[in-house]
Amino acid sequence: MRPAAPHCGGQPPTPPSTTHQFRFRKAYAALQESVPQCRADLGKLLKASGFDPDVVSNALLCVSELAANAVKHAQTPASGLPVRFVVHAVVVDHGPSLRLSVHDSASTRLPVFPKNGERPDFDKESGRGLAIVDALARRRGYEVPYDGAWKAVWCELLLT
Ligand SMILES: Nc1ncnc2c1ncn2[C@@H]1O[C@H](COP(=O)(O)OP(=O)(O)O)[C@@H](O)[C@H]1O
Ligand SMILES: [Mg+2]
Repeated sequence: MRPAAPHCGGQPPTPPSTTHQFRFRKAYAALQESVPQCRADLGKLLKASGFDPDVVSNALLCVSELAANAVKHAQTPASGLPVRFVVHAVVVDHGPSLRLSVHDSASTRLPVFPKNGERPDFDKESGRGLAIVDALARRRGYEVPYDGAWKAVWCELLLT
C-alpha cells in the first residue's frame, strides 16, 4: 500500500546551501558490509573538506545508524531486502548545518524517533540508533514523496 500524499515527520528539511559547495551522494547495496563502507567514504570526504573533528565523528555515528536501519528495517514483504540505499550529505544554510539523509525504497515502513525526552529502556538491546541521532542532531525527520517511491530519513548537525 502506498501513501496517498507526500508526508514527513520531524521538522521540514531546509534547502541546500547556496554558499557551501560540500556535497556527497553515493548508492550502496543494502548489505551489512555497506554500513562501514559508507562511513569510510563519507569520513574521508568530510576530513578532506576540513570539517571539525567533532562534526565528523558525530556525522559518522549518525550515518552509521541511518544506514544500518536502511539495511535492517527497510525490507518490503514482496521483494525481500531492498536492493540499495543512497547516502546524501550536503551543507544547508540553516545554522549552517550538515544535512545527512539515507534514502531507501520502503516508504510504508517509517522510522520511529523517540518522543520528547523519551530514553530507551536500560535493559533493551536495540532501539538506541535513532535516540543517538536525536541526541546529536539539531533537527531530524523523514520524508516520503507523493508517489511513495522512496523515503529519506535525515538529520542536521550544527556546524560550529
Ligand atoms: N529506514 C527505516 N525503515 C523502516 N523502519 C525504520 C527505519 N529506521 C528506523 N526504523 C524503525 O524505527 C525503529 C527505531 O530505530 P532504532 O532506534 O535505530 O532502533 P533499532 O534499529 O535498534 O530497532 C526501528 O525498530 C524500526 O521500527
Ligand atoms: Mg537501528
